[in-house]
Amino acid sequence: MASQNTSTTVTFTFAEGVQRIRAGEVTAAEAADLLIGEMTDDELLWLLDGDTPARSMTRLPGKIKAGPIAGGAVERLGIPGVLFTDGPRGVVIDGSTAFPVSMARGATWDPELEQQVGTAMGLEARARGANYSGAVCINLLRHPAWGRAQETYGEDPVLIGLMGAGLTRGLRPNVMACVKHYALNSMENARFRVDVTVDEHALHEVYLPHFKTVIDAGAESVMSAYNSVNGKFLDVNKVLLTDVLRDEWGFDGFVTSDWVFGTHAGLESLEAGLDVEMPLRLLRARELPAALKDGRLSRDTVIRSAHRILRTTLTHAASRDQAEPSADVVAGAAHRALARRVATQAMVLLKNDAVDGVPVLPLDPSITRIAVIGKLAEQANTGDHGSSLVHPPSTSTPLDGLREALPGAEIAYADGSDIAAAVAAAGAADAVVLVVGMDHDDEGERVENDDINLDVFGFPFTFGPFKWAMGKLAKMGSQFGRGGDRESLTLHPGDERLVAAVAAANPRTTVVLIGGSAIIVEAWRAKVPTILHAWYPGMEGGRALADVLTGAAEPGGRLPVSIPTSDAHLPFFDAEATTIVYDAWWGQRKLDRDGNPAAFPFGFGLGYTTFEQQLVGHQAQDNDGTATVRVRNTGSRTGSTVVQIYAADTSAGRPIPQLIGFRRVELDPGAEATVDVALDLTPTRQRDPRTRAWSRRPGTWGIVAAAHSPRVFDDARPLT
Ligand code: BGC
Repeated sequence: MASQNTSTTVTFTFAEGVQRIRAGEVTAAEAADLLIGEMTDDELLWLLDGDTPARSMTRLPGKIKAGPIAGGAVERLGIPGVLFTDGPRGVVIDGSTAFPVSMARGATWDPELEQQVGTAMGLEARARGANYSGAVCINLLRHPAWGRAQETYGEDPVLIGLMGAGLTRGLRPNVMACVKHYALNSMENARFRVDVTVDEHALHEVYLPHFKTVIDAGAESVMSAYNSVNGKFLDVNKVLLTDVLRDEWGFDGFVTSDWVFGTHAGLESLEAGLDVEMPLRLLRARELPAALKDGRLSRDTVIRSAHRILRTTLTHAASRDQAEPSADVVAGAAHRALARRVATQAMVLLKNDAVDGVPVLPLDPSITRIAVIGKLAEQANTGDHGSSLVHPPSTSTPLDGLREALPGAEIAYADGSDIAAAVAAAGAADAVVLVVGMDHDDEGERVENDDINLDVFGFPFTFGPFKWAMGKLAKMGSQFGRGGDRESLTLHPGDERLVAAVAAANPRTTVVLIGGSAIIVEAWRAKVPTILHAWYPGMEGGRALADVLTGAAEPGGRLPVSIPTSDAHLPFFDAEATTIVYDAWWGQRKLDRDGNPAAFPFGFGLGYTTFEQQLVGHQAQDNDGTATVRVRNTGSRTGSTVVQIYAADTSAGRPIPQLIGFRRVELDPGAEATVDVALDLTPTRQRDPRTRAWSRRPGTWGIVAAAHSPRVFDDARPLT
């Protein structure tokens, strides 16, 4: 807010508040009170929405790329406001590191590594002037067709909660962490209109626990979702914003709206518990001043939100790392190296059969002629072109990566558009790397004119210019990318034909899959020896892929989603639905309940060595516990595995394993270690909707250690 009120004497500023909190003279709450005491009604209302004028909507894409987007900055008192920049695959301000997408990072099953990613993103965000990051997206993947699947960590509440908590811990020393999209936002095309019906059990036991985990890890802020739940859009959903978030969980940070179309009513949303309408001066700027004047809006309600925002921002400013990051951290060597390491650790080797007695991967060093096939092999393809689009200074494509790693090899390239040419290249090579899958046209965030209510602007507006500007932003000419939910869970039919033809021409064919979630591979799985899921591997993705193909690194990933054999085995999904029921049956749990074996189960992934593991003990109390597992590398090279702990009710006809803990372990060949794995027993528990108390579900619960979600649960120990 530009200087207004200059005649009033200022006796307490934001900077003074920070100083006095640091000196231990006041608490953040007291400092917030003192600041509020200085503020005019106009200034207080100014805190409750973004600072960008509604008419500047079309300039947003450019502004997002140039720097943080402010909400509630009050110059007169030195209040910086919330200075938002988006994630989740990196900082969206131009020139930042593009990490592998969240789904890829979910495949690392490594919250400590994710914390390092958070640290890097936090430093880059702060170096570019932000104090608030929207990187922590943890919506549970209910169906792999969700267009924004790539932005979350997978299908399992425990996995996504711990990964989101890792990112949050990493971000917080430099920026405030915003966890999104609260809640049940897992459809794209219909996100602005769909109403999700969910019962209390599925809501609290499946779709919300990970939000609680991330809030307990210290997230300062929550972003409300676009969709509605049980008949109420999230911005006006008092049950979720106040009864659950504040009263039941004790969250004391601030809530911001998802952008522009995520606020439906200025006054009602404030009363329901939404603190900031982002990022424009839109509904609230029109509604609130009059409402405050004529008494429809109480001053207490304004102060309640003002206090949350200021207290949280003050706490952050007083406690964040003192050192200002220098500009050269942004996409600097250390962060690029981290992006590369994460990408190798994220790649999931689904199949690696032997040809002439030797597994196809890692590539035999004596191989000198390689055919690289597929248009995605030479495309800088780091994910969709929506709000999470990052603009790295460079991107290593699969073809770049292989050429750099194998300078002495003869590398032939065919884009696959001409099958005969691809087959000829494959036939003339010792091995083939065939890169197929998705890009921003197949899946991603999507905004269309007819998706949204443009009346919110209160003046004539069409989405055309915004789309055009986003297209320019995406450096793709006028192409924003179709995005949206996936139309099919398989590869494109042309790619399936290409796989079959190329694999027939060369038995040493590795299919590299690119995409944000599960890809159904049944039509061609048996025709190829080797399948590697690389997700969207980020700006260093090509180099990381070459590391894995050559064996310089092993593919460390484990599936954060189950891959079914047929989409008929998945929950009901209609991309255009206006109402939908979410229940407690999805992903691996639904496959297990229905007796449909997965093509590749949740948690699955091969490495270049082998492991054995044995549960040797555990202890559990209420929600927490520890399992002790002996792990041994039984193969011939150093490698890592992810020890996974599952619980199931063994008295059920078909036990349905539920992940309750995991830990990545790296060992030299022949080495053995005994490790403790922290347990989160929430999946074994139920919440009484009346008393809100949690207790163990009925049944005879057992516990096992496994390398992936187990099909049989015979050798379980009783969960005590
Ligand atoms: C997305 C959010 C994002 C926001 C700001 C919205 O369209 O749904 O995830 O944080 O834009 O970029």
